[in-house]
This record gives sequence, structure tokens and C-alpha cells, in this order.
Amino acid sequence: MSLDWTGAKPDPAPKPDLTAETDLAAETDLAVTSEPAPAVAQLRRQSAPATATRGIGAAVVGYGYWGPNLARNLDERAEFTFKCLCDRDATQRQAFSRRFPHARAVADLAEALRDRAIEAVVIATPPQSHYALARAALQAGKHVLVEKPLATSMAHARELAALAQERELVLMPGHTFIYSPAVNAVRDLISQGEVGDVHFVTSSRMNLGKYQADGVVCDLAPHDLSILLYWLDRPVVEVAASGRSVLQRGVPETAFLTLSFEGGATANVQISWLAPRKVRQMIVVGSKLMVQYDDTAADEPVRVYDRGLDIQAPTSFGEHQLIYRSGDIVIPRVASAEPLGLELADFAHAIRTGEQPRSNVALGLQIVSVMESAARSMRERGVPRPVAPEHELRRAA
Ligand SMILES: NC(=O)c1ccc[n+]([C@@H]2O[C@H](COP(=O)([O-])OP(=O)(O)OC[C@H]3O[C@@H](n4cnc5c(N)ncnc54)[C@H](O)[C@@H]3O)[C@@H](O)[C@H]2O)c1
Repeated sequence: MSLDWTGAKPDPAPKPDLTAETDLAAETDLAVTSEPAPAVAQLRRQSAPATATRGIGAAVVGYGYWGPNLARNLDERAEFTFKCLCDRDATQRQAFSRRFPHARAVADLAEALRDRAIEAVVIATPPQSHYALARAALQAGKHVLVEKPLATSMAHARELAALAQERELVLMPGHTFIYSPAVNAVRDLISQGEVGDVHFVTSSRMNLGKYQADGVVCDLAPHDLSILLYWLDRPVVEVAASGRSVLQRGVPETAFLTLSFEGGATANVQISWLAPRKVRQMIVVGSKLMVQYDDTAADEPVRVYDRGLDIQAPTSFGEHQLIYRSGDIVIPRVASAEPLGLELADFAHAIRTGEQPRSNVALGLQIVSVMESAARSMRERGVPRPVAPEHELRRAA
């Protein structure tokens, strides 16, 4: 199954079909670059010493809104040698060539995949194209960083994970937020026990956003989900989802997810492209502290509140007493570093060492699984749906 939000009968009017496999491989003749697995593994071993002394040859696919950020970072980072952009839109290729005259621009990924000097492919195209493009790149023996989400169905995500494993290649979903220093500051507070038991988290991610054919859950929820899974470090067991499609049937612009995590913590996520201003705020309520993370507050994104409500057991015959705690507010210093640069450094490290990147396949699978269950819940008017158990996802990864 895949991310179909409505369960409605197919609309006679043309609309994006998220359930159909977009056969981009056939469209762009990507299959011709496929190499048998043993040859690829051998090629990788042969090329390893060379990449240890020079940058990893890299290509970007997609130069729309997000691709230029990846291209700039790849071009700046010493770990990579930025060689090629692939975008099927000629205007985007021209814009790229003006900015990066030293790199090649091609319309067809097959051309880039035939180039043995390209060892890594970074995919920044719309989500429904991720599967076919990532599969083609893996089949050609390239390491792959694919923008979030890993794929638009669990079947496709699992297939990509299996292919990468079989060919001993890095497959990394681009969950950029877990490289953010502010997100990591909150993670440290939680993992070091400062926050206490996390009771719940609220997350709001809204603005007058760029309309995308895949719907708001596919576009924005991977951010919230990656941060929540990274912070809480335990799997989601159930999700209930509802949403609204105001402009186009089957494409929700607003959604509300309620997530239950193993161990009892819950989270509520509000995401929307229809909001008057940009909101990127998460609040963690723990038994010891409360933490606010506001990604729009550049200088002070994290605030730690020593606030809460304690219950005191009765000392004599009588009622429990509630005590309000209202202590200090601490604004920790958070280092400034571009998360995308750190993510690409992690990708290079994973290629060179074979170690798992922080944003790894297991995380990518978990997120697609939650999104798939959320899509089902939304079709069933908010009925909570289970998420694939952790052990199953780990096996797939
Ligand atoms: N990590 C983040 O914070 C972040 C932020 C924004 C977007 N994204 C992700 O980046 C990806 C791209 O989003 P966007 O907003 O830049 O999309 P976009 O529509 O603005 O750009 C996509 C580009 O890819 C090209 N393209 C599409 N299919 C292609 C194909 N088969 N071969 C070659 N080129 C192709 C298009 O011509 C276009 O230039 C999405 O997966 C999105 O989720 C991530």
C-alpha cells in the first residue's frame, strides 16, 4: 500500500497518482546502467583507496527548490568532488550551469550513472520519483542519499533497503533536522535524563507553504517524525490522523497526527501549508523539565523551563496536594552549523567507513511506515492504525 489519503474512487480529472509506480527507469532508460551485484562490490573495493585521498565523485538529481542547497554544500565540502547535475528541465539546467560552470549538467540520469568517476548520487526530486531514481542509482553501483521521504510506500522503501544491503552500498534518507545543533541540544537534555520521563510532545509546522502533489504529510511530517524518533529513541506503535483538502481532492494541505510511542509517550503533530505565518515549534513536557524548540528563533532556538506540576502524597488523612513548580528559564547556547553540511559529511563518512549514518535506513523505513499508517487512518476518518513493529523494520534495514 502507499500514501493514498482519501480512499476515494479515482477522480476522472487528471491528478497526481501516488499509488502508481512511476516508471521513470523506463522513461529515462535508467535500466541500461544496471550492473550485477558482485561487479559492483568489487568496483567499490577497488575505488576505496582512491576516494580516501580525493573527494568522492558526486552527482545531484533535481535542481528545483532544495537541489541548489545540496549542490552548494557538495561543491563546498572537501569530502566530495561535485561532478554533475541531472535535471530534466532545461531551464533548471541552465540556472545550474551559470552557478556551477565547472560541473556537467545532463537531462538523463543514465548518462551520469555510466560515469565511473561518480560514486555517490544525491536525489532531490519530488517524493514519487525517489524509488525509481534511487533504485537505478543503486543498480548502477552508486551510494545514494535520497531526500525525505525514502519512498512513498513501504514496499518500495523495503526494496531499496534490500538492494543497498545486497550491493553493500550506502542508502541514506535525507532527514536533515536530526543534524541541527538545536535538535541535538534537546536530544542531549532528554537522553541525559534532565527532562525526566517524557510525557508528551507537541509539534507545529505551518506556513503558507509551497503546494506539492504528494500532500502535506509527505512534505512536512518526515521532519516532525525524524525529530521525534531521534529525541525519544523508541518506535511509534500507533498513529491516528485527520486532515483537510481544501483546494484539491486527495491532496491534504493540513493534517493532524497523534502518535503513540512504545513506553507510553505521545505526540501531537500539526502540519499545514495554509497558515498566516511560519511556525516551527515543538514543546517537550517531561516529569522534570519542559523544553521549547523554536526553529524560527535563530539566536535562541531552545528554552528550558523548570516548570511543572508535582503531586504530594498526603502526610495525614486528607487529599493529595498539587504543587506548582515555576523555576528558572534557561536558554542554552547552541552552536551554529548548517545541518545540511553535517548531513553530507555523515554521508561521506558512511561511504568511507561503512558505518551507519545518523539518518539511516532504519529511520527512513520507520518514517515511511508511520506515514503509510497515517494515510490509512486518514482514509478511515481518524481510526488509530498500528505501525509496523520495530523488529520488522530493523529486519528490513
Ligand atoms: N531536507 C529538507 O529540509 C528539504 C526541504 C525541502 C525539500 N526537500 C525534499 O527535496 C526534494 C525535492 O523537493 P523540491 O521542493 O526541491 O522539488 P521541486 O519540485 O522544486 O524540484 C524538483 C526538481 O527535480 C526535477 N526532476 C523531477 N523529476 C526528475 C527526474 N526524474 N529526473 C531528473 N530531474 C527531475 C524537476 O525538474 C525539478 O527541477 C523532495 O523530496 C523534498 O521532500 C527536503
